[in-house]
Amino acid sequence: MPSLNDIRTRFLDYYKSEGHEIVSSSPLVPRNDPTLMFANSGMVQFKNLFTGAESRDYSRATSAQKCVRAGGKHNDLDNVGYTARHHTFFEMLGNFSFGDYFKDDAINYAWNMVTRELGINKDKLVVTVYHDDDEAAAIWKKVAGLSDDKIIRIATDDNFWMMGSTGPCGPSSEIFYDHGDHIWGGPPGSPEEDGDRFVEIWNLVFMQYEQFEDGSRSPLPNQSIDTGMGIERVAALLQGTNDNYATDLIRALIEASANATSTDPDGPGKTHHRVIADHLRSTSFLIADGVMPSNDGRGYVLRRIMRRAMRHVHLLGAQDPLMHRLVPSLVGQMGAAYPELGQAQALIEETLRLEETRFKQTLERGLRLLDDELDGLAEGTDLPGQAAFKLYDTYGFPLDLTQDALREKGRGVDSDGFDEAMAEQKAKARAAWSGSGETVDATIWLDIADRDGATDFLGYDTETAEAQITAIVKHGAEIKSATVGDTVQIVVNQTPFYGESGGQVGDTGVVHADGLSARVTDTRKTAGVFIHIAEITKGTFEVGTAVELNVDPTRRSQIRANHSATHLLHEALRQSLGDHVAQRGSLNAPDRLRFDFSHGKALSLEQLQSVEAEVNAYIRQNTGVETRIMTPDDARELGAQALFGEKYGDEVRVVSMGAQPNSGRGSLGNTYSLELCGGTHVGRTGDIGAFVMLGDSASSSGVRRIEALSGQAAMDYLRTQDGRLAEVASVLKTPAADAPARVKALMDERKALANEVAQLRRELAVSGGGQTDAPAAEDVNGTKFLAQVVSGVTGKDLPALVDDYKAQIGSGAVLLIADAGGKAAVAAGVTADKAEAVSAVDLVRAAVAELGGKGGGGRPDMAQGGGASADNADAAIAAAKAVL
Ligand code: SER
Repeated sequence: MPSLNDIRTRFLDYYKSEGHEIVSSSPLVPRNDPTLMFANSGMVQFKNLFTGAESRDYSRATSAQKCVRAGGKHNDLDNVGYTARHHTFFEMLGNFSFGDYFKDDAINYAWNMVTRELGINKDKLVVTVYHDDDEAAAIWKKVAGLSDDKIIRIATDDNFWMMGSTGPCGPSSEIFYDHGDHIWGGPPGSPEEDGDRFVEIWNLVFMQYEQFEDGSRSPLPNQSIDTGMGIERVAALLQGTNDNYATDLIRALIEASANATSTDPDGPGKTHHRVIADHLRSTSFLIADGVMPSNDGRGYVLRRIMRRAMRHVHLLGAQDPLMHRLVPSLVGQMGAAYPELGQAQALIEETLRLEETRFKQTLERGLRLLDDELDGLAEGTDLPGQAAFKLYDTYGFPLDLTQDALREKGRGVDSDGFDEAMAEQKAKARAAWSGSGETVDATIWLDIADRDGATDFLGYDTETAEAQITAIVKHGAEIKSATVGDTVQIVVNQTPFYGESGGQVGDTGVVHADGLSARVTDTRKTAGVFIHIAEITKGTFEVGTAVELNVDPTRRSQIRANHSATHLLHEALRQSLGDHVAQRGSLNAPDRLRFDFSHGKALSLEQLQSVEAEVNAYIRQNTGVETRIMTPDDARELGAQALFGEKYGDEVRVVSMGAQPNSGRGSLGNTYSLELCGGTHVGRTGDIGAFVMLGDSASSSGVRRIEALSGQAAMDYLRTQDGRLAEVASVLKTPAADAPARVKALMDERKALANEVAQLRRELAVSGGGQTDAPAAEDVNGTKFLAQVVSGVTGKDLPALVDDYKAQIGSGAVLLIADAGGKAAVAAGVTADKAEAVSAVDLVRAAVAELGGKGGGGRPDMAQGGGASADNADAAIAAAKAVL
């Protein structure tokens, strides 16, 4: 009996042997389709190959694709647990031809696969074809030798496959397996077709058309093949059952659920175990592919599935959160085929535990409220919309959870009433918000968020995605279209562009489609809406247009490196300076990073160097950067660093990097840096490349600022610095290594020379070089007075000269006037013994007054002043003399 894992391998190997490329499953969140919530079949990732918009170096492919059908066109959520074959998550095996083979080979391969490779009894099979597809019917007859009654023509869209409301599509042909007449049901097309006896196992789609928004279709450039086989159904029949939940893989999960709750897998809790097993798969795979529980969009679908599972956990009587404990079983079953599951195991477990812990707190009270409501209702009537809304609003019950709970009691919900209550609440919230003092400007974004929901951010995982334009805004108002030359704000339903926040700058890049192009110069974020500021360079953009968005990858990777380097820097500072270091602001731009933090004094050179060295050591450590989701409290308990000024919701994203033994961080082991952060980061610390600090400065009181570079910019900086040193060395004519000593020697030499020059100047002045009058002291009222006009010296030289003269005369007063290039400098000195009798200040002031100057000052024994010119030097000397 082949296991499900065996079947997957056999299928892929068979098609590989027939020249098909084995292509890995694409992520559940489609990058290449803005209209699709989740990958819902194998062909999704090949959509553009069918339409001819893209080509690859293979024209036939095979894959095992992860699929989720829980929202959008194909939604199976409500049936899960109650039927044998519905799942929110399943795997689809498929083979694809892109303009290579068509119906003939597709049918041949499928028949071989089913009857030879898998050994399914041909007598148990019937096929369907689209009612007018004579060609397919004839091929089946020839290839399989099936009688006419086993080739059933179907006129409904059961045999016309469409991925969504638009895209490639075509007539299909399905293979059914007859489980036997012990099970009720009839062949496809019969009144009993809904029974479980005949089960569709494989759908072969003959891709022929592309369907457009307006409902029109045009033929595809190449006829192609898309097939999808539900692996769970095939496993069931090969394992002798018609119940997918009895197959080896899903049964293992059911048993894990039964063991963990000490209940009977097939007892009264049977349905609960089935729901849990199914939902465990979809929730785990969605989380692994980057979806996080939230209140709208994909995140809300995830939350609905999680909460639905959790109600069934509750119904099993489990007291503690359960789902996360089942993840190891799932990884054991599917981790080999889907490595992303194991890689994200910790994130999946934490996300499930968190959601279940929080939801548990309100689940019981909500269920009690529901019971109370039902008590008051007449038999068979639906639950009023208001009550369902209260459950939603106060207890976090998604509508389908309430519906699921009522289903067991044979009741429904007035969903129109629910919608009305929801609309009413939104209007109230909006009114409150617009009165909150936020700028009027922002209300337009709130309107858009109200109408279209928050933008789905895909940029943690990708830099390219397709999206649909949901709004174009110009000068604060929504417009229908914008054309070349316009600068507008573009909103799309999903985007890889990061909107500026948390210090990380917004992304730039391009938005384009056939005949359309716009340059995105910045991206912002308001009310959950991502705003792409774009200059249109080609064509006319319209609301509703499907476009491709490409983030400038080089710039983004520089930003990522700087942001991750900032986290390492933060931790290195804390470790070096102490726990008082807290982030006070930051900038993560492509060309540099800036980090402001609380710390009282400048860092010493030693501290700067050791912090820089530590950051580089963690870069070289090259460990993976991980992201987790937890409550803010849990995060803080682990010692995560919270960002300054950020508001946190119920759940936070925690980014960890670096391994350090004994960090004491509990379940996060030896994480070095742990921060709450919504930004984008490198995959491994080694991707940062290098880190260089440009220095530290004061940002404001008690806050220091470090500016630094990473990656190529750090290398460029070091190269430039090195170039400068080489230049200095070459000017000095010395090896670079000797340059500092050489510069120091030159500085010393220069100082000695300067002293020598000053000394020579004084000597020159005193010895009368160029002087007219030789200095001679005269007696004025019993005080020796020496006055002289000197040239070739500056005002700065005068005090030393005055001192020389004071020493020469021994006792008395000295007045010197320097004729300094059109200006006069004056200095006077009085020896200590005469200081009581005469003040040098008075002498200077008297002289200065005659020289066209003002004031003058100093001490009684030494004073200085200046004048406009030395022309009146004689009068100045006379005036000073008069003071004595
Ligand atoms: N796209 C088709 C399906 O989902 C065949 O793969 O059934």
